[in-house]
Amino acid sequence: MRPPNCKVILITGASSGIGKACAELLTAEDHIVYGTSRRPSAMPTEYRMLEMDVTRDDSVQRAVERVLAESGTLDVVVNNAGYALAGSIEDTTLEEAQQQLDTNFMGTVRVCKAVLPPMRAQGSGLLINVSSLGGALGLPFQAFYSASKFALEGFTESLRQEVAPFGIQATLIQPGDVRTPITDNRLQARQSAPGSAYRACFEAALRIIEKEEQAGVAPEQVARLVLALVNHPSVAVRYTVGHFSQRASTASKPFLPSRMFEKLVMSFYGLSRRS
Ligand SMILES: NC(=O)c1ccc[n+]([C@@H]2O[C@H](COP(=O)([O-])OP(=O)(O)OC[C@H]3O[C@@H](n4cnc5c(N)ncnc54)[C@H](OP(=O)(O)O)[C@@H]3O)[C@@H](O)[C@H]2O)c1
Repeated sequence: MRPPNCKVILITGASSGIGKACAELLTAEDHIVYGTSRRPSAMPTEYRMLEMDVTRDDSVQRAVERVLAESGTLDVVVNNAGYALAGSIEDTTLEEAQQQLDTNFMGTVRVCKAVLPPMRAQGSGLLINVSSLGGALGLPFQAFYSASKFALEGFTESLRQEVAPFGIQATLIQPGDVRTPITDNRLQARQSAPGSAYRACFEAALRIIEKEEQAGVAPEQVARLVLALVNHPSVAVRYTVGHFSQRASTASKPFLPSRMFEKLVMSFYGLSRRS
C-alpha cells in the first residue's frame, strides 16, 4: 500500500542537471520516481532509471508502459529532456533545426500523447513542461532553441484547456539560467565555422550565453518549484524560476515598447544595428 500523498512521477532527461535534481528531491520526499535517459547507466540511483529517447515513438511508449505495468498509475510527468543548439539561422542546416524541434518540442508531444490515455482513464494527472526564458523571448543565435520552447508554450496553453474536463492539469516552467551540463552538451551549428559572416558576433554572444549559464541558479532551485507544483491542488499556466533580473526581464516584456525591449536584449548579447 502506498502512503496517501505518495505519487508516481515520470521525469524525462533525469541523467543530468534539472531532471536529476528533480528526481533526487522527489525521491527524498517519498514519491515513486522513474527517470529516463537515452543511455541509463548501471550506476545505482535511489530512483528507477528507464531507457527513453524522446525522438522515438516506440521508445517513449515502451517506457510509459513499463511505469504503468509496475505502478498501475502515473500521477505526474515532468517533460524535461532537451538540449541547446547554438548558431545563426543562416548557419544552421534544416536537419539541425529539425532535430532541435524533434527533441525539445515533439519529444514532449510524444510523451504527452503516450500518457494522456491512462491519465484520462484514471481521471487525474499533472503534466509539467519545462520551457525556458527562451520560450518567452527570442534569443539571438539560439533561434531554434527559442522556437522549440515557444512551440511548447503554445502547445501547453492549448493542452491545459483540452484536458481540464478530464481532471488533468498542465503547466509550464520557465527557468532562467541554471548551472547544469547544458553548457557542455550544447551543439553548435556545423556551419558556424571560421568564414561565416556571423562568426565574430556569434562567438561573442556564445561567450555571454555560457558565462550566464554557469552563473545561473542551482538546479535544486528548479526542483523545489517542481516539488511545490506536485503538491499544488491547482497549477497556474506558467511559473518562472531563476535570478530576479531574468525573471524581471520576461515580466517586463509586455510593458515595454517592443523595439526598446529588443534593443535591451541585443545590447545584452553585444549586438547593435548598423547605423
Ligand atoms: N540549464 C539551463 O540554463 C536551462 C534554462 C532553461 C530551460 N532549461 C531546460 O531544462 C531542461 C533540462 O536541461 P538541463 O539544463 O538539465 O540540461 P542537461 O544537464 O544537459 O540535461 C539534459 C537531459 O535531457 C536528456 N536528453 C537530451 N536529449 C534527449 C533525447 N533525445 N531523449 C531523451 N532524453 C534526452 C539528457 O539525457 P541523456 O543524454 O542521458 O539521454 C539529459 O538527462 C531542458 O529542456 C532545457 O531546455 C535549461
